[in-house]
Amino acid sequence: MTLQTLLVEIRDGVATVTIHRPDKLNALNAASKRELHEVMSMLRDDPAVAVIVLTGAGEKAFVAGTDIEELAALNTATGAEFSREGQAIFDLIETLGKPVIAAVNGYALGGGCELAMACTLRIASDRAKFGQPEVNLGVIPGYGGTQRLPRLIGKGKALEMILTGNPVGAEEALRLGLVNSVVPASELLPAAERLARAIASKSRPTVRLALAAVQSSTELPLKEGQQNEARLFGASCGTEDFREGTRAFLEKRTAVFRSL
Ligand code: COA
Repeated sequence: MTLQTLLVEIRDGVATVTIHRPDKLNALNAASKRELHEVMSMLRDDPAVAVIVLTGAGEKAFVAGTDIEELAALNTATGAEFSREGQAIFDLIETLGKPVIAAVNGYALGGGCELAMACTLRIASDRAKFGQPEVNLGVIPGYGGTQRLPRLIGKGKALEMILTGNPVGAEEALRLGLVNSVVPASELLPAAERLARAIASKSRPTVRLALAAVQSSTELPLKEGQQNEARLFGASCGTEDFREGTRAFLEKRTAVFRSL
């Protein structure tokens, strides 16, 4: 696969995907969205990959939003389709079945904030800035921002960000629960890789089942979510890795998980 806007590196079970349009602060254009879709689908199906780290090229931006040149050409009909297409890519990332860690190295604005929110976990550099500035362009967030932001940080604060367009810095994002942790810029990728390797060392089927169970918490009422949890818990009890994990504990040794 020849890529124009993404860099992909796979090492020891961890794939690092870098959105690479540094001259446009990694703004998402049609090519980068298409490539993101293709690459994420490929990494989902690649048994050599357990965890994915997603970051932006350069020191300034993770992703500074959707490409405003492309955005400016939309009308009512094409806008709705544009939104649905972007949502589908971000939904794919959220439900990939493998953890995707956003290593947010700078501006995560508009589609960049929405992309980070579709990831499983978010680590921010102390220089990162998160915002939904679409209101300044006369448009609303269209890649899931109006849905994921309130679920992550609460309706009041989400509305404040969406209605004012004002960004928040990394420390505030941490306080709001928008990110899992904040580290100095120079430590961002090492920290994301450490986290990725820690998760990659666990049982893959168990990680997959845990992702599916937690994902259903935002989609199902409590009772149905718990029914789903019981079903997935049962499935985890049927895995070879469950035998290995429990046996290893009882034999006082480290478990070795091999299932894909
Ligand atoms: N779409 C298209 N191009 C973008 C872009 C976007 N979302 N964000 C930045 N760029 C481009 C700029 O046009 C500029 O290109 P040029 O050098 O060819 O003129 C280049 O990236 C550098 O950006 P610049 O604005 O000069 O950097 P800055 O440091 O002064 O400001 C930002 C950084 C992020 C504050 C500013 O670029 C910005 O506000 N971007 C738009 C953010 C936004 O509204 N995102 C939501 C879109 S829905």
